[in-house]
Amino acid sequence: MFFVFEGIDGSGKGTQARLLADHLIKKGRRVVLTEEPTKELFTGYFTRILLRSKDTPDPKTVALMMAADRNEHVKKVIEPALRAGEIVISERYFWSSFVYQVLQGVEEGFVHYINRDFPRPDITILVDVPAEVALERVTARAHGNDGLIQQFERLEFLRQVREKYLELAEKEGFIIIDGRGDPEEVHRKVLEKIRDYGL
Ligand SMILES: Nc1ncnc2c1ncn2[C@@H]1O[C@H](COP(=O)(O)OP(=O)(O)OP(=O)(O)O)[C@@H](O)[C@H]1O
Ligand SMILES: [Mg+2]
Repeated sequence: MFFVFEGIDGSGKGTQARLLADHLIKKGRRVVLTEEPTKELFTGYFTRILLRSKDTPDPKTVALMMAADRNEHVKKVIEPALRAGEIVISERYFWSSFVYQVLQGVEEGFVHYINRDFPRPDITILVDVPAEVALERVTARAHGNDGLIQQFERLEFLRQVREKYLELAEKEGFIIIDGRGDPEEVHRKVLEKIRDYGL
């Protein structure tokens, strides 16, 4: 079983992925909790450097790097775990490229093409929160802010990202969870939605 959590930055994907993993482990299931860009593969290491670079990379370069990292992720982590009968829970997957890279101007067909060979998740959960809520959470986490204008620009971008995620969710049949409320409350909603999958 392959789960993916998606959502805008600060929506609580990571928190919900961890809560679901803990829940399933307590029930005796073997779970691999993972994320993109990857943390332990060298492709993820390079991707994270690229994303932080002052020499802003071209969006198509980012799309290719994300797909390269995803290929390593699929081949070295996701597929071996699924073959071993483990439950895989990934924070972000190719849907993130369909949202972020396409919003940054990369042709949708190109993004589809470079991601076409990757296995489709069994269940994708969109943790949906308004852009303002997500930004507040991220700002609290960072212990500071990067100036009003930049924040406004980020807010505008986050709004677009959220809209794109909701569009994709409709088209691809994601489970949409209202991510407002405390983490435990959101977690209960996740469990309710996946109850029918026999987990
Ligand atoms: N339901 C919630 N209510 C309040 N705060 C939350 C909730 N869920 C997560 N947080 C906090 O908000 C911040 C962002 O959460 P989290 O890291 O899970 O989001 P994310 O979607 O994984 O973000 P990123 O895109 O940066 O990886 C964290 O500091 C987390 O502790
Ligand atoms: Mg996270």
